[in-house]
Amino acid sequence: MVLAPMAGITNPPFRVLCREQGGGLFVCEMITTRALVERNPKTMRMIRFDESERPRSIQLYGVDPEIVGRAVKMIVEEDLADHIDLNFGCPVPKVTRRGGGSALPYKRNLLRRILRAAVSNAGPLPVTIKMRKGIDDDHLTYLDAGRIAVEEGVAAVALHARTARQHYGGVADWESIARLKDAVQEIPVLGNGDIWSADDAVRMVRRTGCDGVVVGRGCLGRPWLFRDLENAFNGSSERVRPTLGEVADVMERHAEGLTGCFDAEKSAISDFRKHVGWYLKGFTVGSEVRRELATADSLDGLRAGLAKLDRDQPWPPNTDTPRGKSGERTKVLLPDGWLDDAWDFDVPEDAESDVSGG
Ligand SMILES: Cc1cc2nc3c(=O)[nH]c(=O)nc-3n(C[C@H](O)[C@H](O)[C@H](O)COP(=O)(O)O)c2cc1C
Repeated sequence: MVLAPMAGITNPPFRVLCREQGGGLFVCEMITTRALVERNPKTMRMIRFDESERPRSIQLYGVDPEIVGRAVKMIVEEDLADHIDLNFGCPVPKVTRRGGGSALPYKRNLLRRILRAAVSNAGPLPVTIKMRKGIDDDHLTYLDAGRIAVEEGVAAVALHARTARQHYGGVADWESIARLKDAVQEIPVLGNGDIWSADDAVRMVRRTGCDGVVVGRGCLGRPWLFRDLENAFNGSSERVRPTLGEVADVMERHAEGLTGCFDAEKSAISDFRKHVGWYLKGFTVGSEVRRELATADSLDGLRAGLAKLDRDQPWPPNTDTPRGKSGERTKVLLPDGWLDDAWDFDVPEDAESDVSGG
């Protein structure tokens, strides 16, 4: 069970809340390799881990094999993490427009060079990759990328079963996870996309034969989904169904954790605002209290709002439904001529962004 890297979400406080529910890997937000080797202060803050976090898992984004190699070497030499994941799934225009993220595996040789640079500098640390099916249905890359990953010594591959064009829309194509599993027998294949409940996770494993699951949006406002997953994979039908009071306690801990993480209460509480709707999903909460929680700008303000919740309200039914980002794109922005040659290995210009976090 892997907590999917999510920029702006999977920082230490959220990872700790998920991790205490069940075992697995809990990946940090995407870190840009150039920003890391340049020791950008924001990036250096983003790779901090809570002392309870073992193994420490960092996701890197990079397009230049040389810089990726240097970033991996730095992680090993300075003992910054225990596992490195490489991002080949990011679909945002500012990344694909420069040939990064989900656009990159189309360039098979460049992908190979990046993986080689990462694995050869990683020493004992396992290197994994996370990718999408491809750019769009006419430019699928995941099977080639899976084979290249095996050949280059990658430890596991995760597939978000959508194309870049699909973004977060439509339904994840779990059949593609099964196809990848058939094509890649040597290393674990992890399935990702549209796991909204523990039963979904079990279904994905049964249907695709994948070796593990990566869960993203399903745990937004619901870190205890990891307890459910652990129960389900152990054959237990027990599920965590917190009352609104118990949810409020988790919200408070999450916000307190962010305060430590951001070093500034105001920015921490404003960052927490996006979580409020996810935590309260399905509960009956008056619009005034919702507004108070979603506009609080201090921990005390947030606590005052939480104190107004009906603590005994039971967990609402029908909450195993989509949450977070959704929606398709009409096209994927790519560098000029990107699709002309799938085999060249030139490093795209300006693609090594110097900011982390997606
Ligand atoms: C807010 C948000 C931020 C994300 N950031 C990253 C990221 O930094 N790196 C990455 O590989 N995937 C990122 N993703 C994609 C998720 O890791 C995951 O692949 C995707 O949400 C599909 O899984 P799900 O259906 O379980 O959510 C992000 C997704 C969301 C919703």
